[in-house]
Amino acid sequence: MNEFQKSLAELKIVPVVTPYTVQSTIEMTKAMVAGGIGSVEITLRTDCAWDAIKAVQDLGLPVKVGVGTITNANLFAQAEAIQADFAVSPGISNKLLARSEGSLLPLLPGIATASELMQGMDYGISTFKLFPAMAINAPALLSSFAGPFPEIKFCPTGGVTTENAAGLLARPNVVCVGGSWMVSKSLVESGDWSEISRISAAAMAI
Ligand code: 3PG
Repeated sequence: MNEFQKSLAELKIVPVVTPYTVQSTIEMTKAMVAGGIGSVEITLRTDCAWDAIKAVQDLGLPVKVGVGTITNANLFAQAEAIQADFAVSPGISNKLLARSEGSLLPLLPGIATASELMQGMDYGISTFKLFPAMAINAPALLSSFAGPFPEIKFCPTGGVTTENAAGLLARPNVVCVGGSWMVSKSLVESGDWSEISRISAAAMAI
């Protein structure tokens, strides 16, 4: 495994966070870290996303802060400029892959097919987000990809839960799993931070 793969394997779970507000993103992160989580992928899905990312970085918690929903090269450059720990995209494009090549910011690009995987490999990528994992039958795809792509590792994301995470993590070509199940909108809206800590701890215990 390369260094990025090793760090993802240590993290095991990459929570996918929607930053509804700066304050709720701070509280979510604190709650997950209290539950043993070591990373957050904060998605660029709301107007306050960059402010929320900066606020979480400034907390100084033992948590890797990644930027999600990197859908183009410009957003990758912005994530690089704020010294994010990692970047995640839902899919790939040649412009994004070219921009990430040689960068110190690791990109975890989303793929769902062998052709997309090979496109990423052309740019030196060996770790992919398998997305949307459960909608595309991740267990079957992971078995199928292991034959022609033995050196490639995956972070299945999309539809992952406490129940199916163990089966995915047990696979030799899976380094970690991603998902939002520990920070559902209803938990965040109700401010149930202790429940977020509890679900996070359960996830880390897998
Ligand atoms: C993502 O953007 O990675 C997904 O929305 C996460 O999927 P989930 O909400 O099903 O966990």
